[in-house]
Amino acid sequence: MNSINFSSPEFINDPYPTYQLLLETGEPYLLSPNQQVNTSGIMKTSGIWLFSRYEDVMTLLKEKETISKQISLARAPEKIRAFDLTLLNQDPPTHTRLRDVIRNSFTAKKIAELEPKIKQIVQQLILNMSKQTEVDFITDFARPLPIAIIAEMIGIPPSDHNKIYLWSKKIASGFDSVVLNPEIYQQQTNALEETNDYFDYLVHHYRQNPSDNLICLLLKAFDNSEIDHSEMLTMIIVLLIGGHETTIQLLGSGLLTLLHHPEQFELLKKQPEYMASSIEEMLRFESPLQRTTFRITTQDFEINGKHIAAGEQVAGILGAANRDPSQFSEPHKFDITRSPNAHLAFGLGIHACLGSFLARTEARIAFSEILANLPNIRLASQAPQWNCTTIFRGLQSLPILC
Ligand code: HEM
Repeated sequence: MNSINFSSPEFINDPYPTYQLLLETGEPYLLSPNQQVNTSGIMKTSGIWLFSRYEDVMTLLKEKETISKQISLARAPEKIRAFDLTLLNQDPPTHTRLRDVIRNSFTAKKIAELEPKIKQIVQQLILNMSKQTEVDFITDFARPLPIAIIAEMIGIPPSDHNKIYLWSKKIASGFDSVVLNPEIYQQQTNALEETNDYFDYLVHHYRQNPSDNLICLLLKAFDNSEIDHSEMLTMIIVLLIGGHETTIQLLGSGLLTLLHHPEQFELLKKQPEYMASSIEEMLRFESPLQRTTFRITTQDFEINGKHIAAGEQVAGILGAANRDPSQFSEPHKFDITRSPNAHLAFGLGIHACLGSFLARTEARIAFSEILANLPNIRLASQAPQWNCTTIFRGLQSLPILC
């Protein structure tokens, strides 16, 4: 198949025709070295393999023997980055040790305790929006909600929310190594350093002033030698970014999709019992994380007749797998009653999203309150703008009338 330009405006606005071609071909797609900018220090340069078919992405997510998450294995030693040491980029037993430290803070039961707080923030944001005629749903709702929640869970004071949002943006854009350029890489490195220093300061602050938040939980794990200092700081950064970047996209794309499908929106208004399945369908239809993070093959690997050598980078295109007709009937149809809906938007296996209960809860409360309090919500005349990274798909702006 012809080479794909993942940074073209056509792809960013509508990646699905390209995904369909990838699904029809069936083979993993090899990004040739000249499509990558090799500033990340990955030593193998023969390419990055991208899997699209649902079955193949499942294999990638579940395979333990031949595929590793330990990306530092493939980096030049001087290029190993703090982020490589997070749970996202580790295999067991290190991955298990790190995930065990925070696992209990993200269970369904623990997240249910946050519901009153989430509802209070949602209602305040809706009230603010309802006082204006035209608002940008991303700036005025989708962004502040998940930031406020994860920041409070971590222990970040409200006065610093904007600062940490700007750092997170720079860090997150650097994950997009398919189209990474040296300037973005440098911005990511600087933002990581600044964020690290900031959290070092906050950790010190909470050492003196204990409280009930994730930083204090991590301090306890540090005192029990379950986690070291740099693991503690990078864990906070992963939770911060994981905790809002994708949820912003879910809220923004979810609302746009409802507004583009008025008959489904009406059905949801009449039958709010479809709220949970609507959110699953939003996650499938416009997956906030369009592809998985990278993995490395540790042995030669065969898939669909293709040979992938040991040491290569591999990733799954979740946005394509979630529209694979072999798994989903009428995959391009947005159907809030779809059942079953075994989408892969939260990944699968040991690295499956830690924050899925939190994201689902925020979305459920947000859309329930929007339905109840903004019955006339509609698109403004200005067109929404999609964000331009190949890993995150979401809206930069979504002008609406309340
Ligand atoms: C709609 C919202 C979200 C989506 C679509 C999403 C998606 C994902 C996906 C696909 C993965 C697996 C990546 C891979 O295997 O390469 C993942 C991992 C992760 N997510 Fe989420 N996420 C969301 C919200 C959250 C939230 C709210 C948090 C809260 C802290 C969070 C924290 C994490 C963490 C820590 C991991 C790494 C887990 C591990 O490696 O064991 N995510 N997420």
